[in-house]
Amino acid sequence: MSSHRAVTLGLAGTGRIGTAHAETLTKLPNVATVLVADADAARARATATHLRVEFAPDLDTLFAADLDGLVIATATDSHPALITRAVDAGIPVFCEKPVAANIEGTLAVIDHIQNSPVPVQIGFQRRFDAGYRAAREAISSGKLGWLHTLRATTLDPAPPPAEYIPRSGGIFRDCGVHDFDIIRWVTGREIVEVHALGANRGAAFFAEADDVDTAAVLLRMDDEALATVSLTRYNGAGYDVRLEALGSKGNAIVGLDDRAPLTSVEPDYAPPSYPAYAGFMERFRPAYTEELSAFVAVVNGELDNPCSPLDALEAFYVAEACELSRRESRAVEIAEVRR
Ligand SMILES: NC(=O)c1ccc[n+]([C@@H]2O[C@H](COP(=O)([O-])OP(=O)(O)OC[C@H]3O[C@@H](n4cnc5c(N)ncnc54)[C@H](O)[C@@H]3O)[C@@H](O)[C@H]2O)c1
Repeated sequence: MSSHRAVTLGLAGTGRIGTAHAETLTKLPNVATVLVADADAARARATATHLRVEFAPDLDTLFAADLDGLVIATATDSHPALITRAVDAGIPVFCEKPVAANIEGTLAVIDHIQNSPVPVQIGFQRRFDAGYRAAREAISSGKLGWLHTLRATTLDPAPPPAEYIPRSGGIFRDCGVHDFDIIRWVTGREIVEVHALGANRGAAFFAEADDVDTAAVLLRMDDEALATVSLTRYNGAGYDVRLEALGSKGNAIVGLDDRAPLTSVEPDYAPPSYPAYAGFMERFRPAYTEELSAFVAVVNGELDNPCSPLDALEAFYVAEACELSRRESRAVEIAEVRR
């Protein structure tokens, strides 16, 4: 996907994902200028120097530049203020998931921007991954028959930095939300009920933040298909993100390639010699590039918003229901958390 007018983009937040997005933006053909800022000005300056992009010492300077669009990759709890500020200034937004740290914050953003024509694209990059796209196509074409089971995994090889966890919203809102979004997107169906369990066998900082490091979720879809979502921060074998869509006529498996960290112990099986993906950056680099290319096309009015805050809200309701379910150890219908 490539867009025609060369644009000037601001980027707020030069941490893990923001730095990667800034680098991706420098490689897009229709991005003329990238201007980065962070609450930690030294960090933004270092990124700017490293990537040879422009630097703004603070957010006021960033907003005062003549931006065609703004990429928000700051910590989750700062997303609402930055989204609404940009929209009020007429600047199209790409914001990393989630829209806000909780449902109230997400609804407040949606309420604030609902009458504005300024687009806000949310960063669910799996929608731009070739495998998930092929699965969606296989399901909608009818090739798989009717789906009986979906199995999704998001297994991180190692936890993010300890200080990330208390501001992350917890494993369901931070991590599982990608699976909830992509299950809705590939199937075109809604999730209606969840039952979630969580466990802590790793570092103490998860429990200290009232979070879990591992979780298992059962989901019921509105067509009675059943799904499981498996999440952990401690998958020593490597980064393992897959989706298995199993139907009455066939299946579609996303993420089953030579780098999937699956160790067969069958005697006649010759394991692939490729290293496992180290993390989300390596696994989804092409998808991040596609989603940011799409954002440039959205900025230029050449593409409809591929992932709106309303989409993000639906996935977030599922995450919220999972959090309630694991705390109260009971099944929770999405209708219970819907506002
Ligand atoms: N789509 C994905 O695959 C993916 C992957 C990782 C993170 N994320 C999302 O991206 C966001 C950032 O995650 P990260 O891992 O890069 O975090 P990080 O902690 O590495 O970086 C966050 C940066 O934001 C800056 N920051 C915080 N508040 C700010 C504010 N008000 N104004 C300006 N800068 C501010 C911090 O100084 C830091 O540099 C989170 O919302 C997370 O959910 C998405």
